[in-house]
Amino acid sequence: MIEHRKLRVALLGAGSVGSQVANLLLTHREELAERSGAELELAGIAVRDVDAPRDVELPRELLTTDAESLIVGSDIVIELMGGIEPARSYVLAALTSGADVVTGNKALLATHGAEIFDAADQVGASVSYEAAVAAAIPIIRPLKDSLAGDRIQRIFGIVNGSTNFILDKMDREGLSAQEAQQLATDLGYLEADPTLDLEGYDAAQKAAILASLAFHTKISMDDVHREGISNVTAEMIEGARKAGSVVKLLAICERLEEDGEESISVRVYPALIGRDHPLASVHGGNNAVFVEAAAAGPLMFYGAGAGGVQTASAVLGDVVSAARRHIAGG
Ligand code: HSE
Repeated sequence: MIEHRKLRVALLGAGSVGSQVANLLLTHREELAERSGAELELAGIAVRDVDAPRDVELPRELLTTDAESLIVGSDIVIELMGGIEPARSYVLAALTSGADVVTGNKALLATHGAEIFDAADQVGASVSYEAAVAAAIPIIRPLKDSLAGDRIQRIFGIVNGSTNFILDKMDREGLSAQEAQQLATDLGYLEADPTLDLEGYDAAQKAAILASLAFHTKISMDDVHREGISNVTAEMIEGARKAGSVVKLLAICERLEEDGEESISVRVYPALIGRDHPLASVHGGNNAVFVEAAAAGPLMFYGAGAGGVQTASAVLGDVVSAARRHIAGG
């Protein structure tokens, strides 16, 4: 067996995504080592409560409430706690210590992205966040790398799985808004604070991240027009159906040009989509993102937009890339 260099990995958070990431790191050890060229040693998992029930059973000796000590000396820090603080402080501490950071925290990036990327640049560390937008769907790397030579004109699509689930249940099963929302709650689809999903904040955070990447400029939450689905009624859904349409919560990021002046518009709102449009066929918790680039033309990205193990796939991809970077850097 090949002897691989060891990299110390710290995981912050063991919620639905974090626990799946820990499980994959532990059970796919050899495969991950072969692919990344490094043995990814999970040094510990920082949690608020070591006794809390988890989606996946994790070795108790890895759980700690002391995130600060865990971060010290780590090569890669995976932040999956969500929210702004203490996630922001931990990410900055990790970067300052020279660790590469992998995060799925869209709220953090949409509000403190500039500060975090500056901190990373100063020490030559990386911040990867494929899991922050559209969960399992590879969309960050295509925008950052694959389309880096093209000019993106427009991105639009469905980037919030729980509201899509609710609207879909109302449309296809005739549920009321309240019934559909209750079902989404029972299935654990909504964020801990459901207004993040229902009022479009989650989609707006993702739109800000996508627009910043696509248009090579800083788009903050203040730049995003946001409207959620809380005013969408069963009557509206029924009216849309009769008109051959379906209501979807859309995120739209586009370059606009007027009188030779270019501006960027980013907006999230419930929109009517014709039933023959591919977005009308995005059901349940799935997401779909269309990218229109000058040379590439239209591209479509589709798949699971939420879910613990699905999102963990995107996190692991970033971890392997960060490990390869470490190995290449010596
Ligand atoms: N609350 C989010 C959604 C989870 O419903 O899409 C995935 O980011």
